[in-house]
Amino acid sequence: MTTETLDIKITKSAQSRLAQTDFSKLVFGHTFTDHMLVADYADGEWKNFEIVPYGEIGMSPAISSLHYGQAFFEGLKAYKHADGQVSVFRPDKNAARFNKSAERLCMPVMPEELFVQSIAALVDVERDWIPTADNHSLYIRPVMFATDPFLGVVPSKTYKYVILTCPVGPYFSKPLRVKFETTFTRSAEGGFGYAKAAGNYGGAMLPTRRAIEEGFDQLIWTDAKEHLYAEEMGAANVMFLLDGKLVTPSTRDTILDGVTRDTVIAMAKDWGITVEERRISITEILEGARSGKLTDAFGAGTAATIAPVGAFNFEGEEYTLSDPATREFSNRVFNTLNDLRYGRIADTHGWNYMV
Ligand code: PLP
Ligand code: COI
Repeated sequence: MTTETLDIKITKSAQSRLAQTDFSKLVFGHTFTDHMLVADYADGEWKNFEIVPYGEIGMSPAISSLHYGQAFFEGLKAYKHADGQVSVFRPDKNAARFNKSAERLCMPVMPEELFVQSIAALVDVERDWIPTADNHSLYIRPVMFATDPFLGVVPSKTYKYVILTCPVGPYFSKPLRVKFETTFTRSAEGGFGYAKAAGNYGGAMLPTRRAIEEGFDQLIWTDAKEHLYAEEMGAANVMFLLDGKLVTPSTRDTILDGVTRDTVIAMAKDWGITVEERRISITEILEGARSGKLTDAFGAGTAATIAPVGAFNFEGEEYTLSDPATREFSNRVFNTLNDLRYGRIADTHGWNYMV
């Protein structure tokens, strides 16, 4: 770890849009705060960290991120506590994953301190934008993309780093009806599913649209080789309570190593629940649904939070699970996570980074 300190120039917007924003009608990712953070990578270093009014940025249409996909992002959230304090949830974990994505895409890494300080500086400027209603927060979206304006298929030498912030409410408003996806794949072994690469999300859009057209809310990605094992659920990790144990697909190069997933695992261990990180077959899940051994199933992610699965569908056959309101584990996780993030219980793991 290095100990770099950031010097950030701040230019405030002339007029805040806060007063005109209806916090009761937030659609995820549609409302941006007054400012954004921008920085450049050139000549082998990160520079020009600036907080500026949110708005468009001029770019050449030849930038290689547009043509060859050298682009990735992160997602994390800031919370406002009842006493007005502000925390960001586990930004060190996002910093580590940011750098994993960067390395896989031949892009420059950023020292953890710079990543965390840049986020804290923007959140500090935007603290009035952090919603206080239950299940609401400030979504933080750091993104990095290649900016060399040439068409050669080589890693860019210059990059832009931008952080956007959006006040958000719950991403999903109801239990999800999900299908096991056995035709399309999100990622394959040796690929870059473990990176938060922009291309992973572009490739997921057609299968997701098809699933929605078929009447589903989300899909569960299965392994690329045999389509027999569960991998992730949409843009979230997937977790099951089977026979009283928390079972979740083990992370590997096809799976994004989620911060929420890691947090739920740590909480389950704190509570004395056995955790199994391993491959989990569709057959095992469906048998569990049939026999009643599967007592909980949910997606875990920053945007998704804890998103209960109401029903699975496998090749046309529907499996309705117990009423999510009655599920002990996912409700306990959901409530404890909220209590922790809003500062209502002790932060024994040191997960809240105070701004
Ligand atoms: N898997 C994918 C593909 C995602 O996009 C996300 C969201 O970030 C997750 C899992 C969950 O990760 P996290 O809990 O870090 O948000
Ligand atoms: C997140 O949870 O931060 C995500 O990246 C999901 C997003 C693609 C909406």
